[in-house]
Amino acid sequence: MRAEKEEEGDYASKGLRVVTIDGPSGAGKSTIAKTLAKRLGWNHLDTGSMYRAVTLALLREKVDLADPESVQAVLDTLDLRLEGGGKVFLGKEEVSQLLRDPDVENLVSAVSALPAVRARMKELQRREALRGPLVAEGRDMGSVVFPDAQYKFFLDASPAERARRRHQDFEAQGLHVPRDKVLAELERRDRLDSTRKDAPLVRTKDMESVDSTHLGIQEIVDRMVARVRAGLPSGEGPQGSSAGGKP
Ligand code: DC
Repeated sequence: MRAEKEEEGDYASKGLRVVTIDGPSGAGKSTIAKTLAKRLGWNHLDTGSMYRAVTLALLREKVDLADPESVQAVLDTLDLRLEGGGKVFLGKEEVSQLLRDPDVENLVSAVSALPAVRARMKELQRREALRGPLVAEGRDMGSVVFPDAQYKFFLDASPAERARRRHQDFEAQGLHVPRDKVLAELERRDRLDSTRKDAPLVRTKDMESVDSTHLGIQEIVDRMVARVRAGLPSGEGPQGSSAGGKP
């Protein structure tokens, strides 16, 4: 097995195929990243679910986040695996369904502000890029983890629209949370994610902004596919511009 340092070097030198999508919660990143990955025939990496899985592991071990040694002990033995279809495993256990639990939801911003956690996630995320072309979504994909990505998007929508979508998701799961509470929680997380010291949510100059407030998923993905394909050397990657389905 290769050392992680070497893998970082590999990542930097190989000019790997990566497209990044960053943005706040509820902007539509997951749906759009998944659809874009399918259209390009690339892998999809949901890094929010990685931070959620670490949060779950820390909660289960009842770790005090203010105790760096205990946090590090969990990170050192963390067996986090991602499989196709958005499945997340801790060891042999599939935990995908547990990642939206309110306990995880409430703590994930604090966990993702810890530098030791971010360093470990960055290693794992870069390793994913060595497996094949990747559409990576999160908060720091284009700014920190894949700064030399082939194409970088920043996806946003108005807070009211993002709260409306999250509220709809909750209702679909049978959870009745008042809309103003959903908006307040979303704004709390935005604040934490964009003001933390280590790798805050930022839009860098080289990211293309996409506002999904009034645009449909298909329209956004079509635009992204066109941008990415325009940047691919001819003969590399899937060709064609059919809307919907894998080319
Ligand atoms: O996208 P999400 O709601 O599943 O993300 C959960 C949390 O993880 C979010 O509050 C911020 C954090 N996160 C992060 O800090 N960096 C990333 N690349 C992805 C997510």
